[in-house]
Amino acid sequence: MSIEVNNLTKIYRLKRGQKKLAVDNISFTIPDGEIVGFIGPNGAGKSTTIKMMTGILVPDNGSVSIDGLNFKKNRKEIMLKTGVVFGQKSVLCWDIPVIDSLKLFRDMYRVPKDVFKENMDAFSQILGLDEFINHPPRLLSLGQRMKADLAASLIYNPDILFLDEPTIGIDVLSKERIRQFIKNINEDRHTTIILTTHDVSDIESLCEKMIIIDKGSLIYDGTLPQLKSIYKTTDLEEIIKKIYLAGEQRNAKIC
Ligand SMILES: Nc1ncnc2c1ncn2[C@@H]1O[C@H](COP(=O)(O)OP(=O)(O)OP(=O)(O)O)[C@@H](O)[C@H]1O
Ligand SMILES: [Mg+2]
Repeated sequence: MSIEVNNLTKIYRLKRGQKKLAVDNISFTIPDGEIVGFIGPNGAGKSTTIKMMTGILVPDNGSVSIDGLNFKKNRKEIMLKTGVVFGQKSVLCWDIPVIDSLKLFRDMYRVPKDVFKENMDAFSQILGLDEFINHPPRLLSLGQRMKADLAASLIYNPDILFLDEPTIGIDVLSKERIRQFIKNINEDRHTTIILTTHDVSDIESLCEKMIIIDKGSLIYDGTLPQLKSIYKTTDLEEIIKKIYLAGEQRNAKIC
């Protein structure tokens, strides 16, 4: 499924009438079946954009269209087709065993029993769910919690998966497994994936296309090889540092 974002804008209303323009009129398209890296410095507006793309926040202006569907008219339909993981906040019930939350998702999304079993088998094998599936999230380590969240967001076979910092605070080996898992999901199920991360190697190993925002504005929308050729280096970390530094100094646009 493809995503079209048009002139998306979000203004947070703060105390004493103050306002914060968090997302400033951005537009982009995410083609069906791609893994897109959505990056930018802290406070750039990435999570705010993802919240608008998943219907958690209502934009002040602009629109999000998911395969021609929009949140005003087709909210339920979109919800059934999208999964989301926030690395900083779990979607699971804090106090009940992970397996019970997964069963709750199964019932909410009306996942057929055989599909549930098939997915559980696959996720258990790759993510090692068995080790902690009977524990509640509050007793899990960060990496285990992330794996449980990934399983929950994919148990109903969504066509689009939003991942907001899924590898934050994860050890190198678990990170590698999570990356491989994301890659497999994209290849086997043709799931469109939007990935926010501050880990350059996540981008290197997963994304062909990149969207960069800074101070709420879109500053790059293109492929990783194109970006490397613009900067005449293959060192992505170096490129990103330059972009963020330029953004601090002025409202730089690369294109
Ligand atoms: N609920 C909120 N109320 C007011 N301001 C907010 C709220 N959430 C975010 N902001 C502000 O909006 C801007 C964008 O925040 P956002 O969380 O979208 O950034 P981000 O790109 O996800 O950053 P990070 O990489 O640190 O996660 C920031 O200046 C932030 O302080
Ligand atoms: Mg964020």
